Amino acid sequence: MKQSFVNAQQLPLIIEPNGSGNSKQELLQWMQSNKAELEKKFFQHGAILFRGFDIDTPKAFEDVSMQVDNRLRNDYYGTSPRNIVKDTNFVYTASELPGYYPIPQHCEMTYVKHPPISIFFYCHVEPSYGGESPLCNFRKVYADMNPKIRDEFDKKGVLTVRNYSNPAINNPFNLFQLKKWNEIFHTNDKAEVEKQCREQEIDFKWMKDDNLRLTHLTPATIKHPVTGETVWFNHSQVFHPASAPVEYKFIHARQQRTKTFFWKTLIAAMVKIKSLHTKPIDQSMNVLFGDNTPVPDSYMQHIEEVIWKNMVILPWKKNDVIAVDNFSTSHGRLPYEGEREILVCWSA
Ligand SMILES: [Fe+2]
Repeated sequence: MKQSFVNAQQLPLIIEPNGSGNSKQELLQWMQSNKAELEKKFFQHGAILFRGFDIDTPKAFEDVSMQVDNRLRNDYYGTSPRNIVKDTNFVYTASELPGYYPIPQHCEMTYVKHPPISIFFYCHVEPSYGGESPLCNFRKVYADMNPKIRDEFDKKGVLTVRNYSNPAINNPFNLFQLKKWNEIFHTNDKAEVEKQCREQEIDFKWMKDDNLRLTHLTPATIKHPVTGETVWFNHSQVFHPASAPVEYKFIHARQQRTKTFFWKTLIAAMVKIKSLHTKPIDQSMNVLFGDNTPVPDSYMQHIEEVIWKNMVILPWKKNDVIAVDNFSTSHGRLPYEGEREILVCWSA
């Protein structure tokens, strides 16, 4: 197999057929024979892209993912709407969020007790415009951050806050609310919700009108379980209200469309208005410092800048499979137009 990189960050390592066979079976056999080398390179580079192989069904994607890491699982307490894909045991749609909605860089489920170890993405339908899933080395992000900001996060940790509305309340104008609590826990029974929270060690509080607040107190960084490197590992750049306008500013600078200008302007205005009359802990999603004090907006501006400086953006090609080391490397999504079907699975 041919191994290469297309950027100075060497992210991801790209593996392609070397002239001869490109069948799934040949790839699986090669992966089996080169398991130790692949594992070493996976942790070194943070992600591997398998491109040009005949991986043309979600089940084939599941088989390749299983060959990288056979501990696939299917529990999900995240924020994106997702659906399981038929004929598979572990494959989901990556996100049902509309195409204009950006997904900032994040390691998957940083705030839960056992975040995924590896995460896999598969391009079933190539986007016609945009829709890349950029990657970023979060070891480098940690290293490049302003030491004063980094130390404050290290010292205080982070409190991840999510406020979910009562299933009976419909507010189509709240763009910040991604799910209701019954969609997270797959039940309308409050006792069952509480049981699942206790099992997952999620702190919960029932609020006015049967809304639900979930909080997680965690360190802002982790030591990589294999390499021991320090990694930026929290959701502040996704959940902090000040991140969204900065994210869209960078997106508009890249895509330069009338639509991105519209969303950039609208999101900046909405975040400003909402922050005037909503306390940080009451925002639909937020990340505070672990002592419950707010993270300054200027910190988020800095973190977004460091992330965008280190981010790599590769256009999807049909049948691409990307294996990502979730404890070193983040992923996200740029806005897109038209069809796009990216599938996901993950291991524990
Ligand atoms: Fe994700």
